[in-house]
Amino acid sequence: MKKMLNLLILAVLVLTLIPVAASAQEGVVCQEEVTVAADDWLSKYADKYFGNVLSWPAIMALHNQAAADDPASFPNSIVNADILEVGWTICIPAEDAAEAFLATYDPDKPETLYAAGESGQLVVGSWWTAGGEAEGLAGMFRIYEEQYPGVEIVNATVAGGAGTNFKAVNKTRLLGGDPADTFQLHAGLEVETYSPETYLQPVDDIYASEGLEQVFPPDLLTLLKYQDHYWGVPVNIHRSNVLWYNEALFGELGLTPPANFEEFQQVAEALQAAGIQPYVMGTKDGWEAGHVFEDVLAGTLTPEEYRGLWTGEFSWMDPKVTQALENFKMMLSYVNEDHPALTWDGAGEYLIGGTGGMMIMGDWTDGWFTSKEFTGYGWAPPPGTQGIFVALSDSFSLPAEAPNLENAENWLRVCGSLEGQEAFNPQKGSICARTDCDPALFNEYLQSAMVDWSQDAIVPSVAHGAAAIESWATDYKDVLTLFVASGDVAAGQAGLQQACVDAGVCQ
Ligand code: GAL
Repeated sequence: MKKMLNLLILAVLVLTLIPVAASAQEGVVCQEEVTVAADDWLSKYADKYFGNVLSWPAIMALHNQAAADDPASFPNSIVNADILEVGWTICIPAEDAAEAFLATYDPDKPETLYAAGESGQLVVGSWWTAGGEAEGLAGMFRIYEEQYPGVEIVNATVAGGAGTNFKAVNKTRLLGGDPADTFQLHAGLEVETYSPETYLQPVDDIYASEGLEQVFPPDLLTLLKYQDHYWGVPVNIHRSNVLWYNEALFGELGLTPPANFEEFQQVAEALQAAGIQPYVMGTKDGWEAGHVFEDVLAGTLTPEEYRGLWTGEFSWMDPKVTQALENFKMMLSYVNEDHPALTWDGAGEYLIGGTGGMMIMGDWTDGWFTSKEFTGYGWAPPPGTQGIFVALSDSFSLPAEAPNLENAENWLRVCGSLEGQEAFNPQKGSICARTDCDPALFNEYLQSAMVDWSQDAIVPSVAHGAAAIESWATDYKDVLTLFVASGDVAAGQAGLQQACVDAGVCQ
């Protein structure tokens, strides 16, 4: 009986205490307020107060909440976990609150590290972390902040070129019903992988209200439409097929960029004889070989034949595809040995350092060179692709369950706007998706890309979502990664054919 009574008392106590505990959580309790000194950083505090360097997210999140609740005491919120400024006052949260935060913390949802602004958050998912692209994105954020003050923008990036890592994280979030408010999506068939009818919302209304059908070129609009709807607002046009070279080296050796594969070999031999790594690649993220090979295909086939590969009208078993693999194999005989350890920008360092001659990569390289203050680069269409523009476009989409819907819709308005595109593209190393941007804002390379975009034969990139559904693009890239290692032309061609069969496009 006594035991029963004790239990009852305990139950009453627990029930009355719960609301007290909940209300205590509404305001952040700081166990200490510290003033940032030189060489202080978040994980140092985490170690000192919680005995674990990995507890830093709890300090960041709860400090930011305290800063939102009480800006007079904490005027500075932490935007970047690596940047604390000397003199800031940081709220070190109470241990139990830190533990409670960490129990549910998911690093793939960086929004939990930030307080909501007066008008909520805007969580923007992308893979733009490299030089140039990060600055371009920041430029678009600035326009958004000017137009929609009071919204806390969360830059939810996952590093890895071409979205290698981002896409998996993003998919998990979408399927889990817990998406970012908007995310980077290539124009074209890539959208299929997200089952847009279930997980995304069409953005047709934004096209109508912003008059976007009048400002994007018709071919791009066609590429963007899937199942009769628009699922993303494009911010740019990128070119996949650019051969970048070190101008000073070419000048010293009296070389001109190779127009075809024979010339490529001659130039490579000359560079090699001069002790220069002739051709550089980084293949660390598994998409780069597929990227270069799409440009080799475009340089070996006609534009119609190249397009036909993705529609089933041109056979992957054609001798011209064999020839393309042979051409690529020849190029690979001049490649840097450390390519599997390097990302695309890591490989670019060879050009900057003057130890590498040529690299084939998309024109985000122009934004990256610029961010590195490297001006000694030249550009040309890779062998055989004069008059051909292998195109892709980045857009932003609207998840069906976007938590901050209005903020996301306004973001898409900025993405489609002239101000947004002019702030973004000159730094990103891409040209506007809109046709009315001011060319004077762009450097010489980008101005040349604008001219080419207006007159070249346009073919879609497969490595960046335009030409094929994601599963096919992945199989294709895997075949090329294997090919780089084996150099086996017959196996490579059979693999490419099989990938087409598996995609349901070839017999
Ligand atoms: C592409 C993307 C570009 C650039 C590049 C390197 O897929 O469209 O904007 O980010 O990857 O990561």
